[in-house]
Amino acid sequence: MTPPLSLGAARLDQGGHLLVKRALSRLGEGERLHVVGTDPDLAVHLRSWARAWGAPWDEATMSLGAPPATRWTGAVRAGRPERPVDNPAASWGLAARGGAVEAGVPAFDFRLDALPYTEDLPRLYAAALSAQWDPATAIDWSAPVVHDDEVEDAVVQVMSYLVENETAALLVPARFCSQVHPHFREVMQLLAVQCADEARHIEVFTRRIALRGRSPGLSTAGGQASLKTLVDEPDFAMASFMLSVLGEGSFLALLRFIDHHGPDLVTRQVCRLAAADEARHVAFGMAHLEAEARRDPRLLERLALAVESRHDALAHTAGLNEEVFDALVLLAAGAWDRLAEGWGAVVSLKQEMDHGRKLRLRRLGYPEDEAARLSSLHTRNFM
Ligand SMILES: [Fe+2]
Ligand SMILES: [Fe+2]
Repeated sequence: MTPPLSLGAARLDQGGHLLVKRALSRLGEGERLHVVGTDPDLAVHLRSWARAWGAPWDEATMSLGAPPATRWTGAVRAGRPERPVDNPAASWGLAARGGAVEAGVPAFDFRLDALPYTEDLPRLYAAALSAQWDPATAIDWSAPVVHDDEVEDAVVQVMSYLVENETAALLVPARFCSQVHPHFREVMQLLAVQCADEARHIEVFTRRIALRGRSPGLSTAGGQASLKTLVDEPDFAMASFMLSVLGEGSFLALLRFIDHHGPDLVTRQVCRLAAADEARHVAFGMAHLEAEARRDPRLLERLALAVESRHDALAHTAGLNEEVFDALVLLAAGAWDRLAEGWGAVVSLKQEMDHGRKLRLRRLGYPEDEAARLSSLHTRNFM
């Protein structure tokens, strides 16, 4: 015999129903729950509550039986919390991984519902969060800018180029983030933080352009045609490969180059901080594709074809904005009587980008000659 549940003065319609539900969940087979209390409306409220919950109600004895079924009947577990399963159901929807999902959840259309999982992902996400920085305090915006106007023009042109590349780098993960089945929580979160990183890069490069009252420089058709192939790429693995492994990998070298040669502290700082973020984006792209390549033996072949067709599609375009190239030469030279040194530095930069791409391609599993060939086919726009 279950002892009566005493609600005291608690009203059923002001939270008292939680006590009733808890007591009902503890009822043994065939037992009934007697409810007592001082609220004059208790019987009325218990009657309508019992009807809504399907619990047998007897007003004469003020007692309830257990409801015949609960909402959890027919609920399924959305996998286990620790790590994703290979093929999560569309009807798990937005549920927390490992949660119980009531029957009848509408099927969502998450196109990316079979992603590889590696132990790197939680670690990369934690690293990304702990490395967030605030542009307002991380950059010394009041540091003096004393170089001449033409060097400033070069800085502004390079920053304008960076802004449009960063914009592409934001739009690509943003699009895929909305297509990832939330069961692959870490991938979704990493893409979201990557978007936040790129938003910050757009901000700091834009602020650097305006530091001495300038407007942005030239945006070329060739540069945008190259970026459009990234923005339009519908396949997640292809886009990760071209954006993160090849493009952001090349950008790492570019940002470090500007950090080294930049004529003022703000220019150097914004590029140094952005480079640290880009290194994580490259690491995520590599981790994802290495895992994907392990389970799909034809992946490398498909990625190589994608590089070739992008190269063919861009063959008629001019490649890197000439103004950007010239601006990098002047930026690295620092003065008009050192142009040869600036030129040499930019040539070395391109070699370093090529070297980095080949290293990453080798790590993904391409043989040396194929890595060299694919690196040479990478867009001349760098990203
Ligand atoms: Fe970026
Ligand atoms: Fe990035």
